Amino acid sequence: MRTLLVFVAVLLAAGTWTVRACPPSDRAALLAFKASLQEPYLGIFKSWTGADCCHKWYGISCDQETRRVADINLRGESEDPIFERAKRTGYMTGTISPAICRLTRLSSITIADWKGISGEIPRCISNLPFLRILDLIGNKLTGPLPSDIGRLQRLTVLNVADNLISGTIPESLTKISTLMHLDLRNNKISGKLPADFGRLGMLSRALLSRNLLSGSIPASISQIYRLADLDLSLNQLSGPIPASLGKMAVLATLNLDCNNITGTIPPSLIVSAISNLNLSRNSLQGFIPNVFGPRSYFTMIDLSYNRFRGNIPSTLSLASYIGHLDLSHNHLCGKIPVGSPFDHLEASSFSYNDCLCGKPLRAC
Ligand SMILES: *[C@@H]1O[C@H](CO)[C@@H](O)[C@H](O)[C@H]1NC(C)=O
Ligand SMILES: *[C@@H]1O[C@H](CO)[C@@H](O)[C@H](O)[C@H]1NC(C)=O
Repeated sequence: MRTLLVFVAVLLAAGTWTVRACPPSDRAALLAFKASLQEPYLGIFKSWTGADCCHKWYGISCDQETRRVADINLRGESEDPIFERAKRTGYMTGTISPAICRLTRLSSITIADWKGISGEIPRCISNLPFLRILDLIGNKLTGPLPSDIGRLQRLTVLNVADNLISGTIPESLTKISTLMHLDLRNNKISGKLPADFGRLGMLSRALLSRNLLSGSIPASISQIYRLADLDLSLNQLSGPIPASLGKMAVLATLNLDCNNITGTIPPSLIVSAISNLNLSRNSLQGFIPNVFGPRSYFTMIDLSYNRFRGNIPSTLSLASYIGHLDLSHNHLCGKIPVGSPFDHLEASSFSYNDCLCGKPLRAC
């Protein structure tokens, strides 16, 4: 009974006082984080004054109960009035201070599209046990991804696209069983895709385009049941396309263009859930599988700049839909079939082959 009274008294006291300020240690960590950044045009850090870093500090939000800093949300491209008044997008230089790791209750870090932030991702980021979102897109970050990033066992979003990140994909990354969105596009990441990439069972988007990845496409990817978007384009991947990619339940976009992929097209890809397929600019050869049917629905299918030979598959006209089709720059031969989808395609879809003829090219 007495404990209950004390409890009620504490609740009343808390209610009559103003909200507790953030812990001084969180405030000090934020000020140290700010000290290594320069933001000359908008003045977003001018709001970072006063004892309570949870109160009106631009981009900072705190847990209601603990008053610990929970989110850092700093976007250089935003519709916030501060940007509209300045009539420009954000620009920041400097580095991400390891002081950020003292904010041990962080659930999201978004430091995106500031164009000029350089230096490395602090390794200690992997010590933040509650981190769910790490979004550092659009800066000039260098160095590798932290090798023990796999310790982030709550991470759902990892986005470091459009930076200068180098090194390889850390082996530990595939241990992040919560990861849903992986975006490493447009960096300088080299080495192989981990063979056990398929362990990322929650992944729905894997965007790794424009890097220096080599080696072959791990077949384990096809175990990722939720994967809808796989973009490995503009790398240096070699080896064949695993046929199992065509058996994936929800894979809708498969971009493998601009690699050095060899072998033939697995027929499974043609009758899969895939509706956007770009295999352009590889070293694929053999015949285009003549297995199109009502299950084939392609808004885009680009097979240009390969070494395909033989005829254009006659079954293409059985596909339920073919939007954009590009077969140019191959070694195809013979008469272009008539009817749908060939009646809405332009000559450029068929140009630069060995001996194709018929509409829309010259008559046979
Ligand atoms: C397919 O990829 C190639 C090479 O990266 C690119 O040039 C082309 O525009 C892409 N095709 C489509 C239809 O987007
Ligand atoms: C592609 O692979 C072939 C055979 O392995 C190799 O000879 C060629 O140099 C590679 N091309 C590129 C652009 O990496």
